[in-house]
Amino acid sequence: MCGIVGYTGFKSAAPILTDGLRKLEYRGYDSYGIVIPERTGFFIHKACGRISGYIPSPEVSSGTCGIGHTRWATHGDPSDENAHPHTDCTNSIAIVHNGIIENYSELKRGLEKRGHVFRSETDSEIIAHMLEEAYNGSLFSAMKQVIPYLTGSFAILAVHAGDGEIVAARFKSPLALGIGDGELFAGSDITPMIGFTNRFIFLDDGDIAVITPETYVIYADGIKVSRDIQQLDLSPDQVRKGGFPHFMLKEIYEGPDVFADAIRSLTSETLPEPIKDAGSFTVVGCGSSYHAGLIFKYLMEEAVAVPVRVEIGSEFKYARTPLSEVIIGISQSGETADTLAALEKGRCHNHSTVAITNVLNSSITRMAENTCFMHAGPEISVAATKSFIAQTGILMQIINIRSNERYDEVLGRISHLMQIVSLEPLTEAVNLCKDSLHIFFVGRGVMYPVMMEGALKMKEISYIHAEAYAAGELKHGPFALLGPETPVIAVCLPGRTYHVMISNIKEMKARKTPVIAIGEENDTELSDIVDIMIPVPGAHLWQHVLQVTVLLQLFAYHTAAALGRDIDKPRNLAKSVTVE
Ligand code: AGP
Ligand code: GLU
Repeated sequence: MCGIVGYTGFKSAAPILTDGLRKLEYRGYDSYGIVIPERTGFFIHKACGRISGYIPSPEVSSGTCGIGHTRWATHGDPSDENAHPHTDCTNSIAIVHNGIIENYSELKRGLEKRGHVFRSETDSEIIAHMLEEAYNGSLFSAMKQVIPYLTGSFAILAVHAGDGEIVAARFKSPLALGIGDGELFAGSDITPMIGFTNRFIFLDDGDIAVITPETYVIYADGIKVSRDIQQLDLSPDQVRKGGFPHFMLKEIYEGPDVFADAIRSLTSETLPEPIKDAGSFTVVGCGSSYHAGLIFKYLMEEAVAVPVRVEIGSEFKYARTPLSEVIIGISQSGETADTLAALEKGRCHNHSTVAITNVLNSSITRMAENTCFMHAGPEISVAATKSFIAQTGILMQIINIRSNERYDEVLGRISHLMQIVSLEPLTEAVNLCKDSLHIFFVGRGVMYPVMMEGALKMKEISYIHAEAYAAGELKHGPFALLGPETPVIAVCLPGRTYHVMISNIKEMKARKTPVIAIGEENDTELSDIVDIMIPVPGAHLWQHVLQVTVLLQLFAYHTAAALGRDIDKPRNLAKSVTVE
């Protein structure tokens, strides 16, 4: 979680750092801070809350080197004191840290006994004090001595007063360098560097880098190493809202193109070898990525009759689950700790591992033997939308290839069909639901995970309690909660379960429950019994999966907008969940 950024060069660092933090805020945003080394001591500005409104005035500091942090608190409340950077007792070393130092209590006790005074409740502050003890004229040597004592996960940037050098260390939390002309950058990801440079290095676990305006040196186990420079031509527009009020809406509208790109990216030639003929799969993911895995299960088992287990990352790690032939880890960010741990478990048991991710060089790409990229472009809104579309595209394409390309035509039309969902009835649905305390989302078969995803979107951005149920399960308990105050969104499309869904809806209506149905246009049998009908054009089941997904994304978006929620950065969440 959290975003860190560093700059050393010839320009004033403060605006570059604050602008960089604004771009990284999607990773964590409960407090922020920057530090700029001065001739003696530091300029530090840190505060609880968002960086959004903070513009450093020119007299702040004209220093050309500095580091910054936007936090997702793990140890200690979001507060001014706990915000990073943290400094040592002599105020000559400052650090920012992403991750968790698991053994910090023990290290802190030792430091306190030796006279160190702590000013925050964070685990991170110990790093500054440990560097102080180890410092003997070289920040790199101090870092090299300190790192072996730390357990957990970290990406650390450190600076020393009076210096234009940044020391960066990575272990299990992402860290990239950006190589410019006479200036160098560091960051949790490359978004703050886009527009300044297109040359990046993604550090490996265990790397320590020393960066100055002109040079960088990377060490692994104390020995200088070279890491590939990757040229990535991303335009600053990809990380701007482009006229949309929120990134989420922009990203939903990118969905159709993203779907087309995702299916194009995978062919029978590029499909990772282990997937081509595996007789069973275990798919692991968290949140939306888990839901994409469930969609895969329903469609794969139906189309190719290959069994698929789907596991939540955090459960899989500790379970004694028998493993399938191939373990597929799905993660937009490629940094989700629980999904990484699941793939690690698969590797330890010598199973083939495949990652599906949106982020080049993310940790998951190093963990898995094979990777399929989603090609969805940067997703800034915390709520996953286009990445979920891309995941579903890749997974559908896998099934298509495994079934000898029976679904080429169906897939080829999906992007178009996603664009013709009608928005008008959504407004009515938003009005009906926005003041509810609870909403149920129900469906059957593959529409059940689609509704799980719809409910997740609704709860995370509108803060309305939304719960998804397999429609047949409602009678086994949740019916006790139904009534005029609790709307149900039911998806009821032609197919094997159509008639049983109609019966379920009648049962709900008999309890005076307002029902919003997503059904096929001109289906009067359905529209006659429900309160609001959201029609979708007649289509194949796979096409309906994407149409309903987009409708539910827009439904959550417009409900949250009507409630005035902070859509791109919902409370308490972070985009990249790098802690267990
Ligand atoms: C979805 O809207 C979420 N914000 C969240 O559930 C997300 O899907 C989950 O944290 C997994 O992230 P990943 O795909 O980057 O691993
Ligand atoms: N564990 C640190 C803290 O709570 C860093 C959290 C983060 O990655 O934002 O301050």
